[in-house]
Amino acid sequence: MRVLLTGGSGFIGSHIALLLLERGIDVVILDSFTNSSPNVINRINTYLDNKYLKYKLEIINGDIRDKKTLDKIFFDSIKAHKSIDIVIHLAGLKSVSESVVNPLLYWDVNVLGTLNLLLSMKEYECFSLVFSSSATIYGLSDLVPMAEDHNISPINPYGKTKVAIESMFYDLCNSNINLWKICSLRYFNPVGAHPSGLIGEDPIGIPNNLFPFLTQVAIGRQKTLKIFGDDWDTEDGSGIRDYIHIIDLAEGHLASIDYLNSIDSCLEFINLGSGKGYSVFQIINQFESSTGCQIPFSIESRRDGDVAKCYADISKAKTLLGWSPKRSLEEICLDGWNWQMKNPNGYS
Ligand code: WQD
Repeated sequence: MRVLLTGGSGFIGSHIALLLLERGIDVVILDSFTNSSPNVINRINTYLDNKYLKYKLEIINGDIRDKKTLDKIFFDSIKAHKSIDIVIHLAGLKSVSESVVNPLLYWDVNVLGTLNLLLSMKEYECFSLVFSSSATIYGLSDLVPMAEDHNISPINPYGKTKVAIESMFYDLCNSNINLWKICSLRYFNPVGAHPSGLIGEDPIGIPNNLFPFLTQVAIGRQKTLKIFGDDWDTEDGSGIRDYIHIIDLAEGHLASIDYLNSIDSCLEFINLGSGKGYSVFQIINQFESSTGCQIPFSIESRRDGDVAKCYADISKAKTLLGWSPKRSLEEICLDGWNWQMKNPNGYS
């Protein structure tokens, strides 16, 4: 089987690439490397070579907004009699705060980029797609746990692009009922790292998200963790989120591929989370007790766009994909810290 993995050198993409290759699936990574380091590819090769695995990994440096690049990938694959069977589409921009400042960039890359991809897939008759969607589409809501039929009301341009893309899928599948097979996976909070410590999360600049900021405090790159509000309507006053181990998330994509290979056509929207909610203070306490690190913190005012609680109902993923998360919060902390210790400055 041959998979086109767009955005395959990013935090999530690199972990999916590793699992696909380990399973003997041929992978073509298309990435512009604007938000990721080419070193990731060396790390993937190192991991697989150290295991004496045979694998086929092709890297294409390109932008999903360039339809010629996409067309060439499909055309060359067919010409070489190794056509693309499934696309896993992660390439896109994902910073909520950046999307507020530069919305047109997000509509361009995320929506027009995905439109380009769908046009190419249609032209070259590749109709199987796993898409990287987000729990951000559920917007400001404290109704937890959130199932897939939860009200969709994104409050930032990033979330709105994900909703627009899911609407595209809906219209596309309605236009030709028995053709497309699409799983749109709604990620909650992917965290941690591959247990080898060879690949992990390496945000550019100061991390917006809690977990990479926390591991950078632990390694000494950041001084103090700012906690955005301890007056939320939660048990300890800090925000509650659904933190899912990046390997569990990656395995959810392989389960989606197996599902798509087992049916004739579908359009499914599926939550991928741990199904549990942990507060900021609980994350800090778990990280400190698992790693022995001390995490100094200060209490700051709430961050715009935050909610008190957000965690997933993952029963659909369990019943439809036969998938469930296996890794604990302790493993998240240990694997995330192992990556950060081995890579104090990320991939650079
Ligand atoms: C988690 C909790 C913060 C940083 C984001 C994106 C979302 C999705 C997942 C892509 C909250 C608190 C955070 C810090 C803190 N990504 N926090 N200090 O906001 O749930 O979701 O990642 O799809 O699009 O928005 O994750 O890690 O930013 O915040 O106190 O320095 O940690 O208030 O309660 P979030 P996060």
